[in-house]
Amino acid sequence: MKLIYHGAEAELWLDTYLGEKVVHKRRVPKPYKHPSLDESLRASRTKNEARILSMARSAVQTPHVYGLSGYEITMEFVDGERVKELFYSGKTHVARRIGHDIRKMHDIDIIHNDLTTSNMILSGRDLFFIDFGLARVSSELEDKAMDLVVFKKMLSSTHYDVFDRIWGKVLDGYHADETIKKRIGEIEKRAKYTR
Ligand SMILES: Nc1ncnc2c1ncn2[C@@H]1O[C@H](COP(=O)(O)OP(=O)(O)OP(=O)(O)O)[C@@H](O)[C@H]1O
Ligand SMILES: [Mg+2]
Repeated sequence: MKLIYHGAEAELWLDTYLGEKVVHKRRVPKPYKHPSLDESLRASRTKNEARILSMARSAVQTPHVYGLSGYEITMEFVDGERVKELFYSGKTHVARRIGHDIRKMHDIDIIHNDLTTSNMILSGRDLFFIDFGLARVSSELEDKAMDLVVFKKMLSSTHYDVFDRIWGKVLDGYHADETIKKRIGEIEKRAKYTR
C-alpha cells in the first residue's frame, strides 16, 4: 500500500482490490482530543461519509464504496486531477459543471458542508465529489445557501486570481434564482456583523 495523502483528519492509502485501484480512507486519532470523544466522532463521520457517498450517487459522481469498517472506508480510486490544481493552472472550464452538480445534490437534499476545490476531482469528462464526512440531509434553503457560501469563501481566498471568472459560472450552472442569491447575501451580511 502507498500513502497518497496525510492530513489532519485522515490518511489515504492506495491499494488494489480484485484488480481495481482502491483507496482506504482512514480517520486517524487526534492526540489533543479526549480519546473516547475522538473515537466516537471518527466512527460517526466515517459511517456518515460512507452512507452519503452512496446516497449522492443518484445525483452526482462519487467514488464507489467497497467497504466500511470502524474508522476506515474502502472506495474506488478516482484517477484524475483535483479542481484545485486545475484552477491553479488557470483551467476554469469546469466551473459551470460544478454549479450544475451542486444543484443536483441539493435537489435530492444532500448538503455537502465542505465544498472545496480539494474535494472535487475531474477524471476525463467526469466530475467526482469526495469527502462527505460532514455532509447531511436537509431540505432547508438556509442549509443549501450556506453550502454555497462556504464554497464561495473558499474560492475567493484560495483562487482569488480567477474568482471573478468562476463564481458567476458556478451560480449559472446552479440555476440560482433570486431567492437563493438573496439568502446567500443575507448569510454573508450576518457573518460580517457577527465577526
Ligand atoms: N477516492 C479517491 N480517489 C482519489 N483520490 C482521493 C480519493 N479520496 C480522497 N482522495 C485524495 O485525498 C485527499 C484527501 O481526501 P479527503 O478530502 O477525503 O480527506 P479529508 O477529510 O479532507 O482529510 P483532511 O481533513 O485530513 O485534510 C483528497 O483531496 C484527494 O486528493
Ligand atoms: Mg478533503
